[in-house]
Amino acid sequence: MSELSMQGGGQAGTAMAAVARLGGRAAVFGRIGDDEFGRHIRESFQAEGVDTRWLVEVPGTTSQFAFCAAESPSGKRTIFYIHGTKGKFSPEELDRDALLDCRCLLVDGHHNMAAVAAVRWAREAGVPVVLDLERPQVEDAELMATASHPVVPRRFALRFTGESDVTAAGRAILRGGPETVVITLGAEGALAFRGDELIHQPALPVEPVVDTTGAGDVFHGAFAYGVALGYDLRENLRFSSAVAALKCRALGGRTGIPTMEETRRFLDAL
Ligand SMILES: Nc1ncnc2c1ncn2[C@@H]1O[C@H](COP(=O)(O)OP(=O)(O)O)[C@@H](O)[C@H]1O
Ligand SMILES: [Mg+2]
Repeated sequence: MSELSMQGGGQAGTAMAAVARLGGRAAVFGRIGDDEFGRHIRESFQAEGVDTRWLVEVPGTTSQFAFCAAESPSGKRTIFYIHGTKGKFSPEELDRDALLDCRCLLVDGHHNMAAVAAVRWAREAGVPVVLDLERPQVEDAELMATASHPVVPRRFALRFTGESDVTAAGRAILRGGPETVVITLGAEGALAFRGDELIHQPALPVEPVVDTTGAGDVFHGAFAYGVALGYDLRENLRFSSAVAALKCRALGGRTGIPTMEETRRFLDAL
């Protein structure tokens, strides 16, 4: 190994770190163990200014942990992870009012049962929901149909729909109910589907690409922040791609996340 860095991670977690870095207000709902990693997880959120009031420490359990290996020169990453023993939220454990006190809710698949309830409540209350799923589980169909903005990586979209083509997959997901669907394609950018519209947003160039770990998480955070700010879809795709690309400049999921000012400067110079 030529370099080693220890950082907080996770799909929704790193997305909220990105919202905070960009200047937004973010809170995280999750569970940690009462171990060294749990303390590190909480402290790394606090260092970013993410509200951790709803990050619950479960006594006598271990936190989720991942080891990510980034390759040079592509920045491609391989992730090894262990769930830990902290368990999952049940819907009854969620503070509904606190959860809905936002302009956009971002949900990943880690707490699947609670996620179903959270997405349903948010949509009933008119709160937009950005959904990030990676691994298949039984709640996927319900989550994908209820969320307003599923933003999923290509591999998930193809597996979920059984299609072999991303355009067909995106259209199939859109027919299921969401208002907008985005499929991320790594270094090939992202494809967005809304009504009859199909928008391809290329990945934006950064040099060097050190590590793509968390690129998707950061894209999701920026996209959710863009939804909260009322950005139009094209503007939001360009914005989220810039934030995700800039993230790839440094080792780890969070170090490279840019501020709003850096993002604006990067976009203006393109
Ligand atoms: N090498 C890269 N250069 C620039 N941007 C990238 C690169 N890799 C990923 N991204 C950006 O991050 C987004 C999400 O990446 P992707 O790999 O699809 O998600 P995930 O990390 O969830 O698998 C892409 O749509 C793109 O905007
Ligand atoms: Mg991802």
